[in-house]
Amino acid sequence: MLVYKKKNQQYPNANIKADFVIGLQYGDEGKGKITHDLCREGGYTHVLRFNGGPNAGHTIYHEGQKLVTHHVPSGVFFGIRSIIGNGCVIDPERLFDEIKELEAAGIDVVSNLRIAENAHIIMEEHKNEDGADEKIGTTRRGCGPAYRSKYDRSGALVRDYRFSGKLSFLTDLVVDLYDELHTGEDTYVLCEGAQGFGIDVDWGDYPFVTSSHCTTAGALLNGIPPQAVNRVWGVAKAYETYVGAKNFQGYGRLLTELQEVGQEFGATTGRRRQTNWIDLDFLAKSCRMNGVTDLVVNKMDIMREVMKGEHWENDFKKEVSTLADACGVARVFFSDNPHTILSKEAAE
Ligand code: IMP
Ligand code: MG
Repeated sequence: MLVYKKKNQQYPNANIKADFVIGLQYGDEGKGKITHDLCREGGYTHVLRFNGGPNAGHTIYHEGQKLVTHHVPSGVFFGIRSIIGNGCVIDPERLFDEIKELEAAGIDVVSNLRIAENAHIIMEEHKNEDGADEKIGTTRRGCGPAYRSKYDRSGALVRDYRFSGKLSFLTDLVVDLYDELHTGEDTYVLCEGAQGFGIDVDWGDYPFVTSSHCTTAGALLNGIPPQAVNRVWGVAKAYETYVGAKNFQGYGRLLTELQEVGQEFGATTGRRRQTNWIDLDFLAKSCRMNGVTDLVVNKMDIMREVMKGEHWENDFKKEVSTLADACGVARVFFSDNPHTILSKEAAE
């Protein structure tokens, strides 16, 4: 006979549904604002950050304020339960600072934030080691070494870590994702990705990659069953940017202008992002591999400003829409403005 510890454990996965926000290029595609927009529209019971850590920087415009999150999922802006998943690595001190900063801006973080007990902690030695990196051009936040410790089984799990002093309150935020997501009640999760497919540890341009899974599949590693997959929002920019040690900058004045006009400087490290024209073959691969249902192309306004006088926009939209069709993408959005995003301007 099968024995269930809890009475409510005999239910199918039909109760859990999930949408995803996935970076299709090299990070910094504007995932933060898409997530923020989707949260505002509502319907989600949870927002889950599923990869990365303090290396990420999501720029969000909330009620007239410009805010940058690193660990904290965007659900906190709308009072939605927001979880740092087991695919993440956490720097407790930086998380503390981030919470304080958001709270100073009037956001209630602590009531909504939760941390997966099986996420990993970035220790001092991880930061020291990563601080010396030049080969990859990391963000020097200790993420790579922390993931290495995770996989060599010497890592510090959240559930075993003692948060002390001013960090003590974090202990009360620790949860088991199974209990959170598989309650038998209806659960609708927005999985908020960090970084992008081009720097994914498996599918990116290794070794110039981050050390986590930035894909839709990577999100599923955080307790989301495959039957839950609903919409996959793939986010791209009208041009490409990359931060790190490899040579990525394309030639020409327009690309340098894109850096300035598009304010392409890292939200986490302030580094100048290298720019290049969009690679549509890569975009197609990224859409297919992540099962994108909804494609968002950001920063059309920046391209327009830099390309003024050139007739690129109609052709560009047509080409992207054709590509989307070929990749099984159901809807395409071209986004113009940093503040309003899904302006319902879907391509014909
Ligand atoms: P790490 O994730 O700090 O180990 O850095 C590895 C590579 O990923 C470097 O090229 C970083 O610049 C890049 N990277 C990491 N996080 C982000 C991000 O949030 N946006 C853009 N690039 C990132
Ligand atoms: Mg960023």
